[in-house]
Amino acid sequence: VVDLVIKNGKILLEGSLTNGGLAVDNGVIVLIAKDPKLPSADKVYDAGGKTVLPGFIDLHVHFRDPGYPEREDFFTGTAAAAAGGFSCVGDMPNPRPPTTSVEALLEKRKTAEAKALVDFALYGGTGTKNILAIHALVRLGVRAFKTYMTSTYEDLATTSYGSLLDVLELVSSFGLPLMVHAEDQSILDFEKEKVGKTGLKGFKAHANSRPPIAEEIAATSALLTAGYVGAHLYLCHISCVPALEAVRRAKMKGVRVTAETCPHYLLLTKKDGEKLGPYAKTNPPLRSRSDMEALWTGLRDGTIDVVSSDHCPYTKEEKDVGWEDIFDARPGMPGLDTSIPLMLTQVNRGSISLEKLVELYSGNPAKTLGIYPKKGALLIGSDADITVVDLAKEEVIKRDKLYTKSKMTMFEGFKVKGIPIATFVRGELVMQDHEIVGKPGHGKFV
Ligand code: NCD
Ligand code: ZN
Ligand code: ZN
Ligand code: ZN
Repeated sequence: VVDLVIKNGKILLEGSLTNGGLAVDNGVIVLIAKDPKLPSADKVYDAGGKTVLPGFIDLHVHFRDPGYPEREDFFTGTAAAAAGGFSCVGDMPNPRPPTTSVEALLEKRKTAEAKALVDFALYGGTGTKNILAIHALVRLGVRAFKTYMTSTYEDLATTSYGSLLDVLELVSSFGLPLMVHAEDQSILDFEKEKVGKTGLKGFKAHANSRPPIAEEIAATSALLTAGYVGAHLYLCHISCVPALEAVRRAKMKGVRVTAETCPHYLLLTKKDGEKLGPYAKTNPPLRSRSDMEALWTGLRDGTIDVVSSDHCPYTKEEKDVGWEDIFDARPGMPGLDTSIPLMLTQVNRGSISLEKLVELYSGNPAKTLGIYPKKGALLIGSDADITVVDLAKEEVIKRDKLYTKSKMTMFEGFKVKGIPIATFVRGELVMQDHEIVGKPGHGKFV
C-alpha cells in the first residue's frame, strides 16, 4: 500500500499524453502505469481524465518576507503559487534586509519554513559591496545569486564591469548561476532627466525613461563578461528585441546563458500600459508589439529558456500614488496566480505546445537550479510535485479571486482557457479546485 495514487489522468510522458496514473510513496513517484496496474493506496486522487504534469516552478518571485509583510508574506505568496499550479518557487534577495549575509539568509529560511505551502529555493544577494559572503551563502544552500546592474538596491548593485567580472567569476567558481537584472543605469539616469524636462507624468514617461537600448547595453555587457570568464549567466525578464538578439548571438558562440521572460512581456504592450497606468509599471517596462512578437519566436526557437512571473507584490497605496506621477509608484506586479492560466490559454491557441510549456515552467527551471530530475520531471524517483490542469476549463481573471496579498493584476478581465485544478508538493495535495488545502510549513527549503 502506497501513500497516494493519482489515477485516470492524461500524463505527459516523452512528449505525448498517455492515459494512466502514478503511485507515490514517501513523497516520491514510485510507479507510472495504466490504471489497472496501479497499487492500492491510502489516498486516491481521481484526475477525471485531466492532464497531469510535472509541478511548475517559478524562478523569480519577490515575497517581501521578512521586510514588508504588508505587501506579501511566505504564506500568501506560496498560496498564490499553489493556486497558480506552482509546486516550487525561487525567492529573490531584495529588498529588506537584503539576503546578502548568513544572518539574513537564516532568518528568511526560518520564516519561510514556518509559512510556506510549496517548496522554495532562496537566492543570495551579491554586488560590488557584497562578495565576501558568497562562500558562506553557498554553504547554506543558496541555488543562485542575484545582482542588479541598476543602482536601485545599493547592496545588490554591481556598479562597474570590472566588478561584474569579479562577481561572475566568484559565483561561477561554485558552479552556480548569476541572475542579473540588466538595465544600464547611466542611460536610465540620462533619459529620466530628459523625460523630467518634458513634464510628462503618465505611464509613457516611465516607459520612455527606460528605453530598449538601456536593456540592450546591459544585457550585452553581461553576456560578454559571462562569456569571458566562462560563467553561467541567468538573464532576468528579457523584454525587447535587441536583448533577445544579444542572447541569440551569445548562445551561438557557446556562452552559458539561461534567458527568462515573463507573461506580461508576452501578452501586453505599452499601449495596454497607458490604460493600466501604475498597475502596469514594471522594470523593464512593457514594450511594443514587435518586441512581444519576437519574444514568442524566442520561446519557440529555444532562445528563451524560462518564463517566470517576476511576482512583485505592492500595496494598493504604493501603486495608486502613481496615477498622479508614475515615478512615485513602485515598480512591479504580482503574477503567480495568473501565469499558468494565461500561458495555457496560449497553448490552447496554438502559440506554443504543451510540451514546450512544461519545458519552460518545469524542466528548464529545475535544470537551472541544479535539481533536475528530482524536480521538474515525472520520472520514477522524482519528487511527487505534480500539477493537474484542466485544459478545457474557462475563467475570467478577477482581482478578488487572487491569493496574493496584493490583490492586483495587469490582466483583470482577461478570458483564460486552461486552469490548474490541483497542485501536489512531494505527494501532498496543497491546492484543489482553487482551494488551499495544504498546511503552512509543508514547503521545504530546496
Ligand atoms: C522588482 C521589485 O520591486 O522587487 N521590480 C520590478 O519592477 N521588476 C525588482 C526587480 O526585479 O527588478
Ligand atoms: Zn502507506
Ligand atoms: Zn528585475
Ligand atoms: Zn524581479
